[in-house]
Amino acid sequence: MDKTLDVSNLSSGTQVSLIDSSQHIYEIQVYKWTIDKRIAQGDFSYIYSCNGTSNVSNHKQFALKCESAQSPLQMLKMEAYVLQKISKRNSRHFCDVEDIGKFQTIHYIVMNLVGRALDYIKASPTGLISVNCALSVGIQIIESLEDLHNCGYIHRDLKPSNICFGRKDRGELGKMYLLSFGISRRFLDPKNQIRKPREHVEFRGTVRYASLNCHQLQELGRKDDLESTLYVLVEMITGQLPWKGLPDSAAVARAKQMSRQPPAISQFLRGACPIEELREFMCLVDSYNYFSTPDYASFFNILRRAIRRNPQPEHPYDWEQGGANPLCDL
Ligand SMILES: Nc1ncnc2c1ncn2[C@@H]1O[C@H](COP(=O)(O)OP(=O)(O)OP(=O)(O)O)[C@@H](O)[C@H]1O
Ligand SMILES: [Mg+2]
Repeated sequence: MDKTLDVSNLSSGTQVSLIDSSQHIYEIQVYKWTIDKRIAQGDFSYIYSCNGTSNVSNHKQFALKCESAQSPLQMLKMEAYVLQKISKRNSRHFCDVEDIGKFQTIHYIVMNLVGRALDYIKASPTGLISVNCALSVGIQIIESLEDLHNCGYIHRDLKPSNICFGRKDRGELGKMYLLSFGISRRFLDPKNQIRKPREHVEFRGTVRYASLNCHQLQELGRKDDLESTLYVLVEMITGQLPWKGLPDSAAVARAKQMSRQPPAISQFLRGACPIEELREFMCLVDSYNYFSTPDYASFFNILRRAIRRNPQPEHPYDWEQGGANPLCDL
């Protein structure tokens, strides 16, 4: 039995040697943090729940995210950087950092434990989230982006698995958290001026939720996070985006472009979507360029108006007690 948290050869698909062949998870310490169990695996990272004593709160359970110190991309450094910066601003939708460090061959961050990600809810039998719940979650996502952007960063990988709700035992089932800043980028220079956009940028992010600029290998700005938010919102409400299953990124980009106009727009904003408001959302995003400062208040107003037009209550959220998604075993 190997009791070290050795992720030195970590790459997609490899196992951390915390788990033996019978899948038994052994207790292991990362300094003062006792690893409990693995929660998730990202492309280059592993996320565990762990126990320990916080310097700043009464909580005992946390999340430890780690990455091999030899990993070529070193995404955890950017994540730590962003989380530390944003936590100084008392932001509303971000995990507090408890500890950051290096242990043997891994880099790690300990942060507060949050609940399920939106992709888990999407995996319910209907694959849908009720409209007003989705719109209200959308408002929280935009609040988190406003805070992140005001801190000088763009996320660049907004997608359901990077958006979680808080934990029941912390009374945070109605609070959304934005996670995963491994490919975030600073768009402000040291003088707080917008950095000059690069002429050619490699594709980063996730094809399904990528903005058109991202497909066109353009420098991404604040508007691109908002465009991805729209795709996440529509997927939550309709259960599926029209470009799901298309063979390649170019085909997806064409479908996204076509979805802006009739007749394809009716396949995009279908089902229970508040068409008028989401089209307005899309037009506002499309009116911006890399340098534009988004008018966040307008996005809140658009979503609030859509919520008011729908007879369903906004709360409880689907996964809260009395909500519409009985399968969420929280
Ligand atoms: N603080 C946390 N508390 C609870 N669960 C978490 C926490 N951080 C991450 N997770 C879980 O782990 C999953 C992956 O986390 P994260 O997105 O940060 O990793 P990643 O390496 O960036 O993954 P990917 O490359 O897929 O984006 C999340 O979808 C979430 O379910
Ligand atoms: Mg992620």
